[in-house]
This record gives sequence, C-alpha cells and structure tokens, in this order.
Amino acid sequence: MNDFVSDPRFKGIEAFPTRVWLSSPTMHGEEQKWVDQAILTNWVSTVGENIDVVEKSLADFIGVPCAVGLSCGTAALHLATKLAGEKLYGQAPVREGTLRGHKVFCSDLTFDASVNPVAYENGEAVFIDTEPDTWNMSPVALEKAFELFPEVKLVVAAHLYGTPGKMNEIRAVCEKHGALIVEDAAESLGAKIKIDGRWAETGSLGDFNAISFNGNKMITGSAGGMFLAKCREDAEKVRKWSTQSREPAPWYQHEELGFNYRMSNIVAGVIRGQIPYLEEHIAQKRAIWERYEKGLSDLPVKMNPWDRENSIPNFWLSCMILDESAMAYQHRGKLDYAFRTEPGKSTPQEILDALRAFNAEGRPIWKPMHLQPIYRDNLFVNAQGLAKGADWNKPSGMADVGADLFRRGLCLPSDNKMTPEQQDKIIEIIHRCFL
Ligand SMILES: Cc1ncc(COP(=O)(O)O)c(C=O)c1O
Repeated sequence: MNDFVSDPRFKGIEAFPTRVWLSSPTMHGEEQKWVDQAILTNWVSTVGENIDVVEKSLADFIGVPCAVGLSCGTAALHLATKLAGEKLYGQAPVREGTLRGHKVFCSDLTFDASVNPVAYENGEAVFIDTEPDTWNMSPVALEKAFELFPEVKLVVAAHLYGTPGKMNEIRAVCEKHGALIVEDAAESLGAKIKIDGRWAETGSLGDFNAISFNGNKMITGSAGGMFLAKCREDAEKVRKWSTQSREPAPWYQHEELGFNYRMSNIVAGVIRGQIPYLEEHIAQKRAIWERYEKGLSDLPVKMNPWDRENSIPNFWLSCMILDESAMAYQHRGKLDYAFRTEPGKSTPQEILDALRAFNAEGRPIWKPMHLQPIYRDNLFVNAQGLAKGADWNKPSGMADVGADLFRRGLCLPSDNKMTPEQQDKIIEIIHRCFL
C-alpha cells in the first residue's frame, strides 16, 4: 500500500495542516442573527418567521409560485414523488405507496436519494443512462425507454454536480409521452438553463421540484430541503403531508398518511442568513472550476462538461475524468479496490488516495444506480435500448456512459474557502500522480 508521503514522485510536498474539504459549510455571521432571533422570540419549532422568509425568498428566486420548507432534500423528493404518483394513479390505500405496480424512469448517475422515493412509494425505478455532454440523463436513452415501456408516466431527473441537464429535450420527450417530471435540483441551486430561449432556474423545470440545504450544498441550514411547487394547491398538499396530515378538525383527525418532514425554524434561520451569499458562493466555485481547468490542461484529463451556450452551472463540485489512454489498471470490488502505478498514467482511486494522504478530500463520481446491489433487479436503458447492467471495471467503449464516468472520473476538492495556493498544491499533487 502506497503511503504517498514517502513515494519519491511526491518529494517536497507536505500535507495540508488543516483538511481541505470537498465542500463544507461557509458561514457569514448573519446566520447567527436569525437563529438567535428565533430563540429569543421562542419560535423554536417548525413554525416561525425564518421559515416564511426562506420559503418566499427561494420561491421568488427560483421563479415558482410556492415553496415548502422541509427537513431535508430527501423529504422534498419523497413528497414530490408521492404527489406525482397520487396525481397519476390516485390516492393509495394506507399500506401501499402511490406508485405500486408502476415503472418510473430515473436518472442513473446520481445520489440514491434521488431515486429511493420511488421505492418508498412502492414503484419500480427504471434507470436511464447518462449523456457525456453534461453527465445527466440522456434524452436519447429516455426516448428509447418510452419506446420500450410506453405506459410510463413519471420521470425523475437530477442535475449532477450543479450542471443543468438537457431539460429542453427531456421536457419535450416527456410532453410527447404525457409524462410528469420530478426535478431533483438538490445540487444545482442557482444553476440556470435557457428554456425555449429564456433563462430559467433549475428547480423550476419539473412538475414537482426539490432542492437541498445539506451541509455540503451551495447554501446550507446544516440540513433542510424545499419542495418547489407549480401551484398553491400542490404546496398546500405537501405542507399538510409534511405535518402529519392533520385534517382541520378540533381533534387529531387523519384521512391521509402523514409525515414529520417540516423544516425547523432554527434550520431556516441558518438558511436565511445564507441566502444573500448564494451568488458569492457560485462565483467562488466557478473560479475554482476555472483554476482546475487551466491547471490541469496539460494532463490527459478533462473537466466535467457543460453546455456553454445554453446553461450556467453553479459549479458545486469540480470534477475531472481521465482520458482512456491515461488510465492505469484499477479494480473496484464490492467494498475494496486496487490500482497499479504506471508512468504517464493514473486512476481515480490513486488520485483520491494521494489527495487523502496530503489531507485533502476528493470523492468518486456517484456510482450509477444500475450498478448498486440494492437495485440489482431493476432495469437499465441506454441510448441503444434495454441494457441489463454492466461490469464497471470494463474499459469504456461499451454503451454505459454512467459506468464509464464512475470508472474514469472523480470529484476534486471544491470547497469555496480553499485558497488559490491550496488549490495549486492540489493541482501539483494530481500532476505527480501521472509521473
Ligand atoms: C442529487 C441529490 N439528490 C438528493 C439529495 C438529498 O438531499 P438531502 O441530503 O438534503 O436529503 C442530495 C444530497 O444530499 C443529492 O446530491
């Protein structure tokens, strides 16, 4: 096992005295004011001014009529997915999910929180392969999926790492087939895309949309999420479900299944203090992405791509992918991995280990859902049609874009508090991996 520090390739490089994070919270001071105000006024609950303000501010910013503050992005995705299911198939009996017996087309290269709500609602996720231009759901594979399963009426689409997916095309395919969209904008708050020639915020592009305020996101409340609604009626329904589905009776009366998913007014205070800094965080993350692009330009690697004409990412995470010709041997098992050091080549696992050895945090690209043991029985559709799944250690060339990105890609330290000097050292460490 290489400890990197004694590896002659890394001679002269010293570990960072404090960890350089992938993406950590960046507080500005105002958060404290709103949290204190909540405590001093005794609104330490799931109601209060902070919640009202963040709901209104974010609905206005994203350009939707209503927003509902929730405990996390996963809760927002769950209720968005449940609402979609209920609209499509009606209210389910209390012991069943709204999607029982129904397939749902889902992004494949994403965090499992995007797609787990389909299972919470007893639906069957069918994973749709990724396109190489933005690393998001392939509209071509989606169209193929509708050819195979024309009865499907729901699509869950995520924007990876803050880069908007091909939503014009995805929306057109869904419209053609009469399907609704749950948009997972957990990672992409503040990212924009031109829709029909006009700029729109991600989080406003689906029928039911979700964002996250998890500690590593663009702005955070320590936790928290938000459901973004196209109409007041949807927002009211989600608000009711999130607070245990009480009917307006003088006692506790329940006609629908409830959840305890509402946002806390303390969490909302932190988010309230962060909102004015969203654009600043985006500018910092963009500068990081651009510094990597320049600093790594002489290596056989590429940065995560985006559509420069029609989208503006929020640059949440800077990622890179190694050229096939620069990939040394790398094997990933169920829980372990191995790689070989070869001159002129490297691997994501070697680079991640090297970064860790010098006290910096990277991360593999999300492992595609169709390769996850939990979803081993689910279907996977690529641009050619039905593809059951694939071995993620095989070289690229096969039609499995997500598996290829997982094999050759990694997320780089992207913390907006990282200094240019720290970033230059990270760029140097990456260079040494290829010696
Ligand atoms: C793509 C994606 N979807 C959903 C989530 C879930 O959000 P949360 O952690 O707020 O539940 C996250 C991040 O955590 C995410 O990255």
